[in-house]
Amino acid sequence: MSEIQKTLSIIKPDAVERNLSEEIKSIFKKNGFEIIDEKKIKITKEEAEKFYLVHQSKPFYNELCSYLSSGPIIVMVLSKENAIIANRQLMGSTNPNDAEEGTIREKYGLSIDKNSVHGSDSIENAKKEIEFFFSN
Ligand code: CDP
Ligand code: MG
Repeated sequence: MSEIQKTLSIIKPDAVERNLSEEIKSIFKKNGFEIIDEKKIKITKEEAEKFYLVHQSKPFYNELCSYLSSGPIIVMVLSKENAIIANRQLMGSTNPNDAEEGTIREKYGLSIDKNSVHGSDSIENAKKEIEFFFSN
């Protein structure tokens, strides 16, 4: 089954800092995604902790939250047919070393933590994550 979906994408601090935002946005557009909302923000560690609450029990949680709040990020709502899975495919594996040729993480990711982009992993999480950043 296919349907038009929305998903949340984040260009993480490592990529914003290296001025890769426009290049990454153009990759989304080339691959048929529409960027229907976007903003450049810097979040607090507390906000990062809330956003990544599902990873609360993981050993990398603290560093992950420090990292996501360490510099400006670009949060975007992307839309496309089956956007959630399509974005996950375009991003590539969490660890850039395992990411498939041509994926964003393979191209730009520096390490498993500084992997340049975030993407929602399910319909339910996409909804929650879009609300988190774009509910005003
Ligand atoms: O981002 P993705 O959904 O691919 O991976 P995740 O398992 O949901 O983990 C969220 C984020 O935590 C990753 O994107 C990495 O930035 C970070 N992470 C980490 O620093 N060390 C790990 N062993 C796993 C994830
Ligand atoms: Mg995830």
